[in-house]
Amino acid sequence: MIDLSVKTEILKTLEENRGLSLSGEALAESLGISRAAVWKAIQSLRGEGYAIDALPKKGYTLCLENDRLSEEGIQLYRENKGTIGKPLFVFQTIDSTNQHAKRLAVEGARHGTAVLADEQTAGRGRLGRSFYSPKGTGLYISFILRPTAVASLAPAVTTAASVAVSRALAKTYGIETQIKWVNDIYYQGKKICGILAEAVSDFQTGAIEALILGIGINIDLPEGGFPDDLASMAGTLFPNPPSYETVKTPEKPTRNQLAAAIMDQIEEVYEKNEFSSLLPEYRKRCFILGKEINVFRGNETFPARAIDVEESGGLVVETADGKIEVLRSGEITIRLN
Ligand code: BTN
Repeated sequence: MIDLSVKTEILKTLEENRGLSLSGEALAESLGISRAAVWKAIQSLRGEGYAIDALPKKGYTLCLENDRLSEEGIQLYRENKGTIGKPLFVFQTIDSTNQHAKRLAVEGARHGTAVLADEQTAGRGRLGRSFYSPKGTGLYISFILRPTAVASLAPAVTTAASVAVSRALAKTYGIETQIKWVNDIYYQGKKICGILAEAVSDFQTGAIEALILGIGINIDLPEGGFPDDLASMAGTLFPNPPSYETVKTPEKPTRNQLAAAIMDQIEEVYEKNEFSSLLPEYRKRCFILGKEINVFRGNETFPARAIDVEESGGLVVETADGKIEVLRSGEITIRLN
């Protein structure tokens, strides 16, 4: 039987010293356990998929290219330590982090609870679509936001999330991304991130009890590429094949680092509750403003020109007959002719 707290402590120490060798003796001494117990815990971590090298006379090293998601690895990089990301549940595989967050919310999980996964088998997208969520190449994360804790759960909640994620991507990888209304994030002309907000409401009163905010990011190209139906639209942050081998270099920040940055930025945005102060940045990143678009709303489709994004996140458009309308939902595409 492996002591879970020993394993957690060893992983934490290895994460803190990623790339460096730590002797079994030093690890044993610092944790007050035997070297055999250290060895057992290391074997078990390796069995779970952590890339840990063991060199004679040097000791154990968590390899720089280790990119396995873990709570220990994420906590190490958190800067804001308020309510977001507490508690934090990390899964290697799950149906959908939004679905799991909903289950937890119904059981009473608190504001800020986060659910992360390396792979989703039933990832959910907007408008009833699915979200392709292969193993090892993306980041899938959901937060439980309680309206009681966040003064205004305005429609701008997802608008704000797209700014928070854009900031996290810039901070982690130095990559500047663009936003397509409502909240898709684009890089080099392709969608690399989708955001889905779902409500959990009281069956009797209809009151919103929690909002589940789900974020899915394509980081590396999945082995074999995206399925045919996605290939023309979906992109990745590190798009050049064979990215899978080359980008996992020591210089590339891990997904744990990105997850920590997202939590920090979500915390910044929601705890401060200043949606309107995010608008200038949203507008700057929003590449559809001023463009001719097609609007898909319910059963209707019409051409328009995207003019502005207003305070609550609505898209202001001018229709072909000169009418100004504010879109609160729906989809748009840029018109090419
Ligand atoms: C979209 O672009 O249609 C929204 C996609 C949202 C995907 C994320 S991945 C994490 C969370 N869990 C889900 O099942 N969906 C969201």
